[in-house]
Amino acid sequence: MTDAAPPPDRPVCHFTPPVGWMNDPNGLVHHAGEWHLYYQHHPDSLVWGPMHWGHAVSRDLLTWEHLPIALAPDEHGTIFSGSAVVDRDGVAGYGPGAMLAFFTYHRERDRGQGLAVSLDAGRTWTKHAGNPILLPPVGDVDFRDPRVLRYQDPAGPVWWVMVVAAGRVLRFYRSDDLLVWTPTGTFADPAGDDLAVLETPELFELPIDDGAERAWVLVFGQTTGGPQGGSGARYVVGGFDGERFTPSDGDAEVRWADHGADFYAAQSWTDSPDGRRIWVAWMNNWAYAERIPATTWRGVLSIPRELGLARDTVGQLRLTQRPVDELTRAQQPLLDLREPDLETAQQQLARVRGAGLDVTLEVEFASEGEGHLELAVHHGPAGATRVGYDPVSGEVVVDRSRSGGALDPVAPGGALDPVAPGGALDPVAPSRHRSPPLGRRAAVELRVLVDTTSIEVFADGGAVVLSVLAFPLPGATGLRLDLDGARIARLAVAAVTAGA
Ligand code: FRU
Repeated sequence: MTDAAPPPDRPVCHFTPPVGWMNDPNGLVHHAGEWHLYYQHHPDSLVWGPMHWGHAVSRDLLTWEHLPIALAPDEHGTIFSGSAVVDRDGVAGYGPGAMLAFFTYHRERDRGQGLAVSLDAGRTWTKHAGNPILLPPVGDVDFRDPRVLRYQDPAGPVWWVMVVAAGRVLRFYRSDDLLVWTPTGTFADPAGDDLAVLETPELFELPIDDGAERAWVLVFGQTTGGPQGGSGARYVVGGFDGERFTPSDGDAEVRWADHGADFYAAQSWTDSPDGRRIWVAWMNNWAYAERIPATTWRGVLSIPRELGLARDTVGQLRLTQRPVDELTRAQQPLLDLREPDLETAQQQLARVRGAGLDVTLEVEFASEGEGHLELAVHHGPAGATRVGYDPVSGEVVVDRSRSGGALDPVAPGGALDPVAPGGALDPVAPSRHRSPPLGRRAAVELRVLVDTTSIEVFADGGAVVLSVLAFPLPGATGLRLDLDGARIARLAVAAVTAGA
C-alpha cells in the first residue's frame, strides 16, 4: 500500500456495509418508527458475488444500526434487488401488519420473483413456500428488481402494483392479495440506449411545487450510456392509473436523475411518515464498481434525499432532490458569512478541515456569461476535487481528475494498488463531470456535501445534482475557494455531527 491512494476512511454521514461488498439499496420501508434499509450484499468478499440482503435500521436516516443478514441464497438462487411493503390489511394471509419483501431469484439467469415475510419488525424473514411467486414471461432472460406499491384508485378501490425490469422494457402487474399477479402493461424508454438493460424500477407520486396537483414519476437504472458513461438512473414524469404509466405530453422527456457518475439503483422508502418521499442510491458505477479503493468494505450509499417536483422556466416538470432535513438538524455551523470579500472567505475556509461538511455557496457574477467560480474540496498539497459553475457554458462542473486515489487496476480481490499518485479515478468515466447547462445565470447557489469518499452537489433548487466518488490523498481534507468576476453573497459551512 502506498500513500497515493489510502484506504478510505468510513464516511461521517453516509451508509456503508459493516464488511464486504454492497450495491443496491433494497426493501426500503418505514415501519414502527424505524427506517429499514436492506441492501445487495456479498458479506464474504469485496467484489460482487452470491447476493444476500444485508440489513440496517435507523431512527434518523443518518445513524444506522447493523442487523443480521435478512435474506440468503436458497435452492432457487441468489437474492437480487427488490422492495418491501407493510400489508396493513393482511390481504396476503399473514395477518395485518406483516412485512412482505419481494426480490428476484437469480441462478445463471433471472428465475422469477420471490416473496419473504417478516412478522417481527423486519428482523427475521421466512420465504414463501410457493416461491417463485411470479415467473418471467417466455423469452425474458432479465426479469428483475420488483418494486411493489399500494395503489389507491381515485374512484375508491385499492390494489397492489408491481413494476419489474425486463430487458429493454418495464413490466407492470397488479394484485389484490400480493400473491397472484396479473400483467397490465409495459413501458419502454423512447430515447433509450439500444444496448442498455433496464434495472431497479421505481414509481411514486409527488405534489407539484408543493401544491395540490400531483404527478407520477417513473425511475429506472440504465446499465450503459449513463450521463458520464457506464450506469445511471433515469426518470420520466407522467400519469399512472394503477395499470399503465403514460408520460405527460409536455414532460415526456426521459432525464437523468443525477448527472454525476455515481448514482444508481435509487429507491425510495415506502410508508414514510408525513407524506415525505425520500430516496437513496448506491454511489457507484458498474463501469468500475469493483475497482474502487477498499479495505474491509466496499460500497457507499448517497445521502437520503427528499424529493419534489418543480416546474422549470419553460413549464416542464423536474424532479428536485435535497438532503433530508435530518441532516441539517445533525450539524454544527462552522462559519456563515454574508457578503465576505474573497480574502476573508479564504482565510476562514482555511481553518476548516474534515469530512461530513455541508457547504452552501451563493455567488453573484458581475456580468452574465463571464467569470470563474471554483470550490476545491478534499483539498491538500497534492490535489483536490474541484466543484464549480462555469458561467460561460452555464454548467455545474465536478472535476475529480486530481482527486488523489485511483482505481485498483488489477486486484478484484480488493488489494489497494493505485495507478498513479493523483491519477484519474477511471479511464472509463470521464473525470470531469458536467451537468446540462442551467442557462446563463447572474447568480448561482451550490450546496456541496463532502464526505470521506464522496461529493454531492445540489444546484438549481435541487433540479440538478451531481454525485461523485472521490478518494483523496492523506490529509487532503481542506476547502479552498477561487473566484473571479463575482462576489460572494453567502458562504456557510457546517460539520455533520451524527451519522453512520
Ligand atoms: C443493479 C443490479 C440489479 C440486480 C442487482 C444484483 O445494480 O444489477 O438489477 O438485482 O444489481 O446485485
